[in-house]
Amino acid sequence: MTPAGEELRARLREILGAEGVLTTAADCAPYLTDHRQLYHGAALAVARPRTVAQVSQVLACCNAARVGVVPHGGNTGYCGGATPDESGRQLVLSLQRLNRIRSLDAANYSLVADAGCILGQLQQAAEDAERYLPLTLGSQGSCQIGGNLSTNAGGTSVLRYGMARDLVLGLEVVLPDGRVLDALSALRKDNTGYDIKSLFLGAEGTLGVITAATLKLFPKVRDVATAFAAVADVPAALALLARLREASSDRVSSFELIPRIAVELTTRHIAHVTDPLDRAHDWYVLCEVASSHAADVMEELLGNALGAALADGLVLDAAVARNERERAALWRLRESIPEAQRKDGASLKHDIAVPVAALPDFLVRASSWVSANALQGRLVAYGHLGDGNLHFNLNAAPGADARRFLADAPRVGRAIHDLVREFGGSFSAEHGIGRLKVEELERYADAVELDLMRAVKSAFDPHGIMNPGKVLRA
Ligand code: MLT
Ligand code: ZN
Repeated sequence: MTPAGEELRARLREILGAEGVLTTAADCAPYLTDHRQLYHGAALAVARPRTVAQVSQVLACCNAARVGVVPHGGNTGYCGGATPDESGRQLVLSLQRLNRIRSLDAANYSLVADAGCILGQLQQAAEDAERYLPLTLGSQGSCQIGGNLSTNAGGTSVLRYGMARDLVLGLEVVLPDGRVLDALSALRKDNTGYDIKSLFLGAEGTLGVITAATLKLFPKVRDVATAFAAVADVPAALALLARLREASSDRVSSFELIPRIAVELTTRHIAHVTDPLDRAHDWYVLCEVASSHAADVMEELLGNALGAALADGLVLDAAVARNERERAALWRLRESIPEAQRKDGASLKHDIAVPVAALPDFLVRASSWVSANALQGRLVAYGHLGDGNLHFNLNAAPGADARRFLADAPRVGRAIHDLVREFGGSFSAEHGIGRLKVEELERYADAVELDLMRAVKSAFDPHGIMNPGKVLRA
């Protein structure tokens, strides 16, 4: 450690106390690798503040010393945004001890939470107050709300409630120079100039550190019905979505596309996952309709809509969950697809979106490119059909050479993302940029937009200490 590094560690101990600063290799290890194991960084220390004042002091100190700061939440991101670089000169700032729900206002349908609160903890608090926090992610047992907002997380209820940014009423943010932006408003209407707080949503910690947020709540869900339906093809799935939206007064909360191979991978690799239907089909949807009215009509409504779609040939077979256990089993199948992919071996991920109506055409073009050009891989394309967002992933084909398969990632990614651009889509619909997609952003972002992003970055963070090298090149 250099003398300057030692000096900074000593200063951090003054601010945070000895237990608030981790420096040994064993203590720091969990903060230095992303959960996909794509990056293995090093850090001069891991700071673990307990208060906003401490975050402010830490940032002011790093800003003065020109030390890069890498905010770190639940470490569930897909693009390496929370992992420091390999220099050993950056500080990891963990928000995990800033984990208090500050208040919950049921009458205002809002709650204020520290950044380090686990998403599941907030969902439970809302539920206890007869309210609903709709952000729903496979990682909700460990991801933190600060990270969810910094990455503008998506998940399986975007179709009805929007992305993480749509659930934010207010934010508290510590700026790189240590100033605290208090924009923790609980207002639904506040039309007073630039919406500064929105810039931190999706900025992945490159402009400042989100320390707390006011989140929107909704009426508690009291009647929910979930089904797993085999569909004739992807256009049939989209036609079914339109029917369900109409039949349910637009109360479809999830509509997830699942290919046959995902059923095979999850039933093979994940305990207690079984195929909900008797026979194999090419495509399925997991759909859910939900209401705050405890009338117990959702199951009938969903059953009737699926029955009609079956009669019309859109749906080939379906299983409607009859109880909470069956519902959880259907969700387990869907949510364990990423884990099953991981267990199956090497994989390439493409988190793409195109306009919903263009998805069938995109799938035809992109799949035929994969079968003709990515011979080492097989397609595992699934995801948030209702949002036009698919995880157009590939797994190494049985018997393929995993190293060769992975080495082909740039070529495959380029072809898929170029096609996405042709369709007016996004190369990163919900997983953000992090470190992984910086080059892609440079290639696909509009030049004017990229200029503005760089201008915002230097206005907020003139010394470039916030999460250097993430989103934008350092
Ligand atoms: C999902 O929807 O399961 C996730 O966003 C993860 C993935 O890309 O596999
Ligand atoms: Zn997803």
